[in-house]
Parts: sequence; structure tokens; C-alpha cells
Amino acid sequence: MTESPLISRSIDVDYSSVAIARDGRQIIVRAIRPDDKVIFEDELRHLSPESRYFRFFTPKTELTAKELKYFSELDFVNHVGLIALIQENDTFVAAGTGRYIVCAGNGKGPSAEVAFEVKEEFQNLGIATILLRELTCIASKSGIKQLVAFVLNTNSKMLSVLRKFHWKYQSHGGSAGVITLSKELSNAESGDIRTSSQNHSEG
Ligand SMILES: CC(C)(COP(=O)(O)OP(=O)(O)OC[C@H]1O[C@@H](n2cnc3c(N)ncnc32)[C@H](O)[C@@H]1OP(=O)(O)O)[C@@H](O)C(=O)NCCC(=O)NCCS
Repeated sequence: MTESPLISRSIDVDYSSVAIARDGRQIIVRAIRPDDKVIFEDELRHLSPESRYFRFFTPKTELTAKELKYFSELDFVNHVGLIALIQENDTFVAAGTGRYIVCAGNGKGPSAEVAFEVKEEFQNLGIATILLRELTCIASKSGIKQLVAFVLNTNSKMLSVLRKFHWKYQSHGGSAGVITLSKELSNAESGDIRTSSQNHSEG
């Protein structure tokens, strides 16, 4: 992870916004907190083996204490993460998470890698679309110039989400079947986060 003075703190830890899932349910998006560790453990259990492989590129079944700390204790400068909670009866339950991690740039300015996971039962409701839209706004406002994603070429859902936002194929990665997609950020992406996330999840 590269610390860069060109990147500013993105959001406050008490950040939250509201969006609507494809089935009409309300989604609350908020900043990931240290006490979300239990959510990450639960999330992994609610991913199919294929989804776990798509996310981690290994058949991962549990997270170590170090990984849980890494996923939940964020600085919101170099590592920014959001959690989506979906309405279920009278309460909201964790449905998915998205994050970006600042990485070595390409000479055009700070760059960050995005990653997502949405629990199996809440997939195809537009949650990753909502999270990506919001993370893109946050990254752009924070001075990030490019987002990248490493995706298995068989991961049709993730590719579909990225293509909706006009991400471009960049290259094949080092590992078999992994491709790199990227999105250059401009001021156009830094529109009002709250307004954009209140829209319907269609990209
Ligand atoms: C990839 C993932 C994050 C997408 O989350 P999601 O909340 O279901 O995504 P959305 O609902 O916003 O969008 C899914 C898109 O895939 C499309 N889709 C669903 N099944 C598909 C398939 N078999 N082939 C192609 N596209 C498909 C949906 O139609 C939707 O596109 P649309 O909005 O244009 O209709 C989720 O499937 C997941 O957690 N997968 C496992 C982990 C992973 O792959 N992470 C990404 C690594 S960076």
C-alpha cells in the first residue's frame, strides 16, 4: 500500500447513505467499522465456493485474525470500505461490502484496487452496483485518478457490473484467467455521493 500526500481522507467513520435495491428494499450504506469483524466471518460463510474463489482466487473457508483486522480496521485514506445493509422485515442485515485499496499508480496519479463481495442470497439486487457507484464518487473526491480491478475471466457478474460503468479491459494479470480492468476518474465521477446513492441501483 502506498501512502500518498495527494490523497485526502475520504469519508468520516460515521458516514452513511441510503439507496434502493432492485426489489424495492431499502439499503443503508455505511463506512466499515472495527466491530464489523463478525460480519466478515458471517459473509464468508454465506458465499458459495465459487463466489469465494472469485473473491480471493483461492478456496478460502475462513479468515485469520490478521485478515479480519485488515478488512475491518480501515484508515479511510489508503483503505476505504463500505458495507451495505438490506432491509429484512423490521431490521437491516449485512448484505455485502466493497472497498478500495490504494496501490502503485501508473504515472497518471494515485490508483486504487477495488474488491466486492455480496452474500449469495442478496446477489443480483444491484448491491455491488450501488457500492461501486459510491466508492467511485468517494475515490474521485479523494484524489484517486484510476481504479483497477483484478477479476477472473469467468466472473460474469463482476464483469457485468464494471462494464455498466464503462470500465475498460487493460490486460491479463499474472495468474491464469485473471484479467485487469480499469476506470480513469475525472471530476464527473465525483458528483454528490448522497444524491447518487439515493437513486435506484440501475447503472
Ligand atoms: C460479483 C458480485 C460482487 C456482484 O454483486 P451483486 O450485488 O450481485 O451485483 P449487482 O446486482 O449490482 O449486478 C450483478 C450483474 O450481473 C448480472 N448477472 C447476473 N448473473 C449473470 C450471469 N450469469 N452472466 C452475466 N451477468 C450476470 C446481473 O444481471 C447484473 O447486471 P445488471 O445490473 O446489468 O442486470 C457478487 O456476485 C459476488 O459477491 N461475487 C463473489 C465475489 C466476487 O466475485 N467479487 C468480485 C471480485 S473483485
